[in-house]
Amino acid sequence: MRNTRIYEMLEVTEAAALAAGRWMGKGDKMAADDAAVQAMRKTLANIEIDGTIVIGEGERDEAPMLFIGEEVGCGGEKIDIAVDPLEGTNLTASGQSNSLAVMAFAPAGTLLHAPDTYMNKIAVGPEAADVVHIDATPTENIRAVAKVMHREPEDLVVCILDRDRHVDLISEVRQAGARIRLITDGDVFGAVATAIEGTGIHLYMGIGAAPEGVLACAAMKCIGGCFMGRFAFRNDEERARAEKMSACDIDDVLTMDCLVNTDEAAFIATGVTDGEMLRGVKYFGQGARTHSVAMDAGSKTVRFVETVFRTGTEMFWVRQD
Ligand code: FBP
Repeated sequence: MRNTRIYEMLEVTEAAALAAGRWMGKGDKMAADDAAVQAMRKTLANIEIDGTIVIGEGERDEAPMLFIGEEVGCGGEKIDIAVDPLEGTNLTASGQSNSLAVMAFAPAGTLLHAPDTYMNKIAVGPEAADVVHIDATPTENIRAVAKVMHREPEDLVVCILDRDRHVDLISEVRQAGARIRLITDGDVFGAVATAIEGTGIHLYMGIGAAPEGVLACAAMKCIGGCFMGRFAFRNDEERARAEKMSACDIDDVLTMDCLVNTDEAAFIATGVTDGEMLRGVKYFGQGARTHSVAMDAGSKTVRFVETVFRTGTEMFWVRQD
């Protein structure tokens, strides 16, 4: 199915990026996130959809806007919406690469309601989509990807979040011969980059936030890559929360169909700061320029879109004065 909504929804992540980009390097991650949330919510309100936020800023009592369960849009087709208005708040606050404004949407009832817990994840691009598994060892996965890509493990780059919990993973990946791109934040980028040529990243592995897992999985559905996960609960409270929220076996492998149960998902991201996949927002005297990727599983399209907002546009947050 051709998703005609893509361009309307693109304005949502563009608006968030335009707002958050003003906070680049200002050392205030909360303000950057708040700007992105407000812009995203305001833009969503004008779109003719009957949308439900299934992945958002948190539970209703802790998030005043874009909370899980919030209804957005001004009426129309029923859809599930997953948002991360600013993925990589620290990256934006410190002016580092690859922070993004991100959204996925799909027919109502198809996106997993993932709790804000951790998830062990693996992602790889289309070429190696059939040869990795979340339950295989890192060494087995690296060898399988190298073989199917006709390379040596030394020719592969694995993206991993730089966290103490990954000490053993990092050591095994090095032992297996692959090289590593450590990132301080932003694993939606890490996972999606495996499917985008030119990023130099071939595999993503490790434990990150579960909601970001659903977003990354939506992208992989669109682009034909593989994403697989397993919840990594730290205590019984997290497990109980997941049991209450998620319509899946929380101890089982989180397959792509479990995370995103449709072939009609869409994923959109706009760069906030410059990165290997997307350029960040550029402001200039007469307006601003954004760079986005819009993927649609239904029509099997991946569009890279550059938009220039001239001063006076309805996107009032191009200028804050
Ligand atoms: P923000 O919520 O500050 O944007 O951070 C996002 C992120 O880096 C994700 O990309 C990642 O999945 C998660 O945080 C990792 O969590 P933690 O910092 O607790 O390891």
